[in-house]
Amino acid sequence: MNIAIITGASSGMGSEFARQIAQKCLGLDEIWLVARRSRPMEELAENLSIATRIFAMDLTNPGSYESLRTALQEHNPRVRILVGCAGYGKVGAFTASSEADLLGMIDLNCKALTKITYLILPYMPKRSYLIQLASSAAFLPQPGFDVYAASKSYVLSFTRALREELRHRQIHVTAVCPGPVDTPFFDIAEENGEAFFFKKIFMASKEKVVRKALRDAFHGKDLSVYGIPMKIMHIGCKLLPQKWILYCYEAFMKIRS
Ligand SMILES: NC(=O)c1ccc[n+]([C@@H]2O[C@H](COP(=O)([O-])OP(=O)(O)OC[C@H]3O[C@@H](n4cnc5c(N)ncnc54)[C@H](OP(=O)(O)O)[C@@H]3O)[C@@H](O)[C@H]2O)c1
Repeated sequence: MNIAIITGASSGMGSEFARQIAQKCLGLDEIWLVARRSRPMEELAENLSIATRIFAMDLTNPGSYESLRTALQEHNPRVRILVGCAGYGKVGAFTASSEADLLGMIDLNCKALTKITYLILPYMPKRSYLIQLASSAAFLPQPGFDVYAASKSYVLSFTRALREELRHRQIHVTAVCPGPVDTPFFDIAEENGEAFFFKKIFMASKEKVVRKALRDAFHGKDLSVYGIPMKIMHIGCKLLPQKWILYCYEAFMKIRS
């Protein structure tokens, strides 16, 4: 059985990956959807033209992996595509944020992403695709979004290293690094009343970001960065000293407030 597994499939880009992968069909027999809320995944599944299996699980709870682990052992599927979309961020200064929010981001964005990759990799054959959602926040430390940006730097670094390790197994690995994308992400990110300033200027549609991510992954690219502003940011962060960029950013934010 050939399958795709998508985490964070109840919302935003995860649901969109499921839609676009199902449309392309790609010789898949099933798509396995993973997130905590089953209802939105059931609604999504009703509109997909491919069989689905739903795993309602909290990826930050090690005890909740059992149903997925059992299903993998029972069906021994060939996981042709794994998309790691589950993640969240909370805007706010480090000292003003709750410990639960800060550690929660590390638990989901870093630990759970690593755990699910480790669990599923043995089922990925030659010419399969591993797509991990990092962020343009991975390119640069971000005051006011510190831990989120650091967690996404982890995802980017981990994904790039894994790409080299898995090359001999012909598993294609791509890190997706979008800027702000129009999804429910910001309902959670701005829950504490702090707005993400650059959101409105650079907001991209999830359909376009996901289309590009899939195209880049299928072309074997290491990185998928949507849109000219984020590409400029990516190059700028490579060329300029980080402390200069951060100094300018802080000065700009002071003038604005
Ligand atoms: N939107 C952006 O601007 C943006 C930009 C760059 C990168 N990203 C990254 O892209 C990925 C997808 O984000 P999105 O924009 O699609 O946001 P989203 O709509 O909020 O989706 C996040 C997904 O993660 C799942 N999730 C959250 N906590 C979970 C947990 N403990 N266990 C299992 N699943 C969990 C959510 O489902 P449940 O609530 O049902 O569990 C949801 O399906 C994230 O990694 C995010 O950091 C987003």
